[in-house]
Amino acid sequence: MCGIVGYIGYEQAAPLLLQGLEKLEYRGYDSAGVCLNDGEKLVVEKSKGKLKVLKELTENGKTLKGTVGIGHTRWATHGEPSDVNAHPHLSDSDRFAVVHNGIIENYIQLKEHLKSKGIEFRSKTDTEVIAQLIEYYYKGSIIDTVIKVMSKLEGSYALGVISRDNPDEIIAVRKESPLIIGLGENENYIASDVTAILAKTRKIYRLENNEIAVLHRDSVKIIDTDKEEVRKEPETIKWDISAAEKGGYEHFMFKEIMEQPKSVHDTVAPRIKDGRVVLDEIKLSDEQLKNFDKINILACGSAYHVGVVAKYVFEKIIRKPVEVDLASEFRYRNPIIDEKTLTVVISQSGETADTKEAMKEARRRGSHVISIVNVVGSAIAVESDDVIYTWAGPEIAVATTKAYSTQLAVIYLMAIYLGDKLGTINENEYKTYVSELQELPKKITSILENKENIQYLASKSFNCRDVFFIGRNIDYALSLEGSLKLKEISYIHSEAYAAGELKHGTISLIESGTLVIALATHEELLGKIISNIEEVQARGANVIGVACENHPEMASVAQSTIFIPNTCDMFLPSLAVIPLQLFAYYVASLKGCDIDKPRNLAKSVTVE
Ligand code: AGP
Repeated sequence: MCGIVGYIGYEQAAPLLLQGLEKLEYRGYDSAGVCLNDGEKLVVEKSKGKLKVLKELTENGKTLKGTVGIGHTRWATHGEPSDVNAHPHLSDSDRFAVVHNGIIENYIQLKEHLKSKGIEFRSKTDTEVIAQLIEYYYKGSIIDTVIKVMSKLEGSYALGVISRDNPDEIIAVRKESPLIIGLGENENYIASDVTAILAKTRKIYRLENNEIAVLHRDSVKIIDTDKEEVRKEPETIKWDISAAEKGGYEHFMFKEIMEQPKSVHDTVAPRIKDGRVVLDEIKLSDEQLKNFDKINILACGSAYHVGVVAKYVFEKIIRKPVEVDLASEFRYRNPIIDEKTLTVVISQSGETADTKEAMKEARRRGSHVISIVNVVGSAIAVESDDVIYTWAGPEIAVATTKAYSTQLAVIYLMAIYLGDKLGTINENEYKTYVSELQELPKKITSILENKENIQYLASKSFNCRDVFFIGRNIDYALSLEGSLKLKEISYIHSEAYAAGELKHGTISLIESGTLVIALATHEELLGKIISNIEEVQARGANVIGVACENHPEMASVAQSTIFIPNTCDMFLPSLAVIPLQLFAYYVASLKGCDIDKPRNLAKSVTVE
């Protein structure tokens, strides 16, 4: 996600801003920029690419004068990575500069309104709307203006604001996206997280939602939106730098597991307006959508596992045949694909070679391609016909978690959207699906709040040699991901199996003490999976069940059971995957594995 820094003091600000941005590089970004007040005007330098481009451009900050400034590393969400879309963004008359971390969900409406007033925009970002709004409403008090603008914004934002006419002030605002104030001697800082300023000060304030900080060289004042002063005790940071980069978590993977409620919310919320799913990214008419006779899904690894879930979801909701292909296989099987096939390509990185080449093969055969990608402007995003971005933020750990969850969320949005267009779901079903989808972040949070039970089960399982994940229907689809998560970070051999298929051979491997993780969330087939559990228990297996809390009887079936909140069947993988991610994480942690960088693996496999 984006990174913010700001400095006000008596030293030249630019080199300090660049040093702060360097400490935020771990958050993942695709462009960077700084803005300084040189005493007369606001001067912006920003560029696509890594920080070193900006450093070369400014000779490590030497070409920029001024002792007040703000800086930013951008993880693109709205508008591809480019110089013009990089932050900071200036207002119309270059009077205000803004840096932003978060997503403004109503930026399109706000932008249209400002354009109707004759305001011209330079970029495609939601952030520029904030800068223009500040100028549009400014009547002499920056505080009053910022409070007014906050009342117009929907979504999440951490903001840093400086103005041309007041070189002795930085304004900082927080709503949802974290922002801290660093307290120095005759100098003060703003930053997205402590990493950026730990070398300068360990004394901070953490802004809470709807708080506004006014920074001068010798003072920091915090107020609320009623302009009432907010008293805070400074916090002293005891972390070392490396711990701070992970927000205090030991591993990026755990941090990203914990970020899933926000990632799913950020991916879903902007695409539900007045109770309707809005997918403007799909540039196909209702007629064209009706003309497709099948869907073909292409992906690798965990993204492929999302595709297997999608097969069950799409076939249930839109009643069209769905094929799911491993991208590396699809390319070489002379696939039966044409203009009546809708191809869906799923990729976190948007750079996976197998997936990219498979997409090209599908397009060559006339198929319309919709991609679901997490990295804005990546090759697959650019080369597909339509792209629906997941807004998980940068995923640093090799083993995907939040990207997987946000890909599922996009699949659900597509299924509801297509079901409505094709008339395969009624209004009541539509409302239920939308409502349940909006509840997912809260339900994911409730599972994360009870992670100790999963940690306990992992402590009894981390010496296992083989682990089997079994399930039926949507649970089978999920078992694939549970198995891969465990394998790739703990190096324990694991297999995912359709529970009904076990007796056709593989059950010969079940012996006394074999660990079987049985996914038993799909209500219609609960009786069947219970039989499969008893089948493996009869051969000595130790079973950990994953079931919905409205089926407490499961506790007397499996030796241990992890309960998850209920939701509509098709969305269950979004909840049941959380215990599986945590289980894999805790097992690998107990084994002392290199969790964020497992052996032999890369975060993006850009070779065949
Ligand atoms: C999943 O944890 C792995 N990192 C891997 O299977 C990954 O899902 C696969 O390589 C696909 O990557 P992509 O989503 O970036 O295309």
